[in-house]
Order: sequence, then structure tokens, then C-alpha cells
Amino acid sequence: MGSLFSLEGLVKSVSGFSPADVSGNEDFWAAIRKGYRLKPDYINLENGYYCFLPQQTLESFIKHVREVNYQGSYYMRTVQFENKKMMAAKLAALAGCSTDELIITRNTTESLDMIIGGLDWKPGDEAVMAEQDYPAMLDMFRQVAKRYGVVNKIVSIPNHPQSDDDIVDLYAGAITERTKLLMVCHMINITGHILPVRKICDMAHSRGVQVMVDGAHTFGHFRFSIPETNCDYYGSSLHKWLSVPLGAGILYVKKENIGKIWPLLAEAERKPDDISRLNHIGTHPVHTDLAISDAIDFYNMIGADRKEARLRYLQHYWTDKVRSMPHVILNTPADPVRSCAIANVGIKGMKPADLGDTLFKKYSIYTVPIDGAGVHGCRITPNVYTTPEDLDVLVKALAELG
Ligand SMILES: Cc1ncc(COP(=O)(O)O)c(C=O)c1O
Repeated sequence: MGSLFSLEGLVKSVSGFSPADVSGNEDFWAAIRKGYRLKPDYINLENGYYCFLPQQTLESFIKHVREVNYQGSYYMRTVQFENKKMMAAKLAALAGCSTDELIITRNTTESLDMIIGGLDWKPGDEAVMAEQDYPAMLDMFRQVAKRYGVVNKIVSIPNHPQSDDDIVDLYAGAITERTKLLMVCHMINITGHILPVRKICDMAHSRGVQVMVDGAHTFGHFRFSIPETNCDYYGSSLHKWLSVPLGAGILYVKKENIGKIWPLLAEAERKPDDISRLNHIGTHPVHTDLAISDAIDFYNMIGADRKEARLRYLQHYWTDKVRSMPHVILNTPADPVRSCAIANVGIKGMKPADLGDTLFKKYSIYTVPIDGAGVHGCRITPNVYTTPEDLDVLVKALAELG
């Protein structure tokens, strides 16, 4: 296991090089890989659900578990909330937003469902979303439709848009004078497609519609700031790309919108624009909160730009080799600005479940099959510890399946 100190030395050694140069520096990434404990049984190309922790963050997390367990109620009654605030401030700095606009939640589901369920809906109000959005949020919209008479308008995102306007116009076409909220994925989870959220937010605002962005897959994946998206609400899961222990997320609410939301779980009386109104969850695993700082340190140590460049490099390493194979269907746009680590691949005439099964049983590659919403293939998600040799096995498998 590499210590923070030795990794710092490693990072110094590449400090004079651009992220693009470092993206293909296999010595550097091999050293990063050493900081992970990897199962030898298969090549894990399913880092989309959960990006498990490098050993360094895991060890720090275990120390936090021991310390909280040692201090018991004393910890809970003294520094618990202060520490959580410090973690939220560190996250806000990473998100580029103000500390009074961001809270720590348990995951994206909690963050976004709080907004969907917490708005003051009236019968006949409309909401816009996409068929490719995450099922948990679509279920919550179905619930508010039943409960309050909200009308849900559902668009379908093409896998290969010609331009940003293709996407913006699609959402614009679903807005009416009754539309109250538009939900959009920053990155579609089944394809890795990055959507032009800034343009969608600007368009929606020009029509008087608020925008909630599902960024479950973006935080710690590629560099952006939440305010630069110009959204009203943003949710992300920290156990995905930031490699925080399971059960941590963020919710950003633009200051002027905080008072518009009914919390999921009621808090004692607070000022309407105090975001802590939305953050009452009861007793929870506070040691997970503490590990957020360690995960951010690890991320910053690698460098956001270096990580993003490496992840995009790895995706293009394999997609560029298979995109032109006649039996291969890539469900992710080729334009580098429209994707990063994640891509989705299908084989003509083969069910995604069979492809997933074959990749696992014959080639020892673990992926997840997706079969719906216009996407039929396996989602392939490398992480910083993935090697080009791992991806060569995937390329060989896809070639042989022709
Ligand atoms: C696009 C998207 N939104 C929301 C979620 C829900 O995330 P969580 O289960 O961490 O709440 C996911 C999970 O994979 C996702 O991919």
C-alpha cells in the first residue's frame, strides 16, 4: 500500500507535465494502482455503482470508526455536528459553491427525492424529465403525480446527438406554461453521456422553469463547479467517483430556493433560507462523514485534471479500437466532451445479459448489462487503477464476439 507521503512524492515527479501527458504515463498510474486492494478473480469494469476505496482512505475510515466507537455518546454530543459542518465546507470548496448552499446527505436518491417530494406542487403543474433518467427519481415523480396531480413530460435522449442544440431543443419542446421543474442528468448513468447542462439551465430559466441536475456520476469524476451549471438544485453521490465510504452524498440548493423546499424529515424552526432545515436525518454513521476529508485529500493528491484526463484516456483507449468494428454498437457519443470514463457497448444480435454473462464467464470481465430506454449493451466503467492491459482483454473479447 502506498502511503500519502510516498504518493505525494510520486505526484511531485509529474508536476511539470500536463494532465494530457500524464494520462498515458503507465508508471505513474501503476503506482496509483498499488494503493488499491484488487480482487484477482476478475477485471472490475463496473465502477459505476460504487468506486471502492483506495487502502489509504479505507485505513483512515477504519480509524474514524474506532475513534467514534471509543468516544461513544461523548463524540455525538460534542463535536459531531461541528465536524460534519467542516466536511460540508470542504465539499463546498470542491463544488465551488458557498457553504450555506450545500449539505451532506446519504446519497443522490435522498438529495433529489427531497427536492421532488418537497416542492409545493399544485394539480396540473408539470415536470420534465428523460426516459434515461435514474429509476428512483422517475419513481418519485410518479409518486408526486399520483399524490398531487402533477403531469410528467418524458423526453428521450438520443445516444448520438449532432450538437448541444439537439438536446436543448428536446427539453425546450417539452416545456409549457405549466412547467415547474425540469430534471436533467449531468451524466446519463447507462451510457456515460454528458449533457450540456449549462445550456439546458439557461434555456429553462428563460422560460421561468427551475432545473434540478442529477450529478450522481460527476462529482470527483471530471472537473466542474456546481454554480457554473447555473442549476437550482444539484445532487451527487460521494461513494461513486470521490470514493467516500458507502452512504454519503451532497445536495446543493441555490440560496434563493432553499425556502421553497419542504424537508423530507422536519427540522426545528430555522430561517427559511437556512439550508440546515433540509438536513435533519437523525442518528447516522458519522464516521462516514469523517472519511469525506480523507477522500478529498486523495482526490486532490491525484489531481482533478489528471484524474479526468486519465479516465477519458482509458475510455478512448478501448472505444477507439472497437467503434468501427461492424458488429459493435457503441451507445456513447464519440466526441470527447460528451463522455469521460463511462461508455456502453453492445454486440449486434446479442442480448446485453448474454454479453455480460460471456464477458464474465469467458473473459473474467465484470460489467453491468443495460437493456432499455434505447440502450442495449454493457456499461463499461474503468477507474484510476484500471490498466490498458485490462482493456486489451475487453477489446479482444469484443473483437472475438463478431
Ligand atoms: C444517474 C443516477 N442518479 C441517481 C443514482 C442514485 O444514486 P444512489 O443510489 O447513490 O442514491 C444513480 C445511481 O447509480 C445514478 O446513476
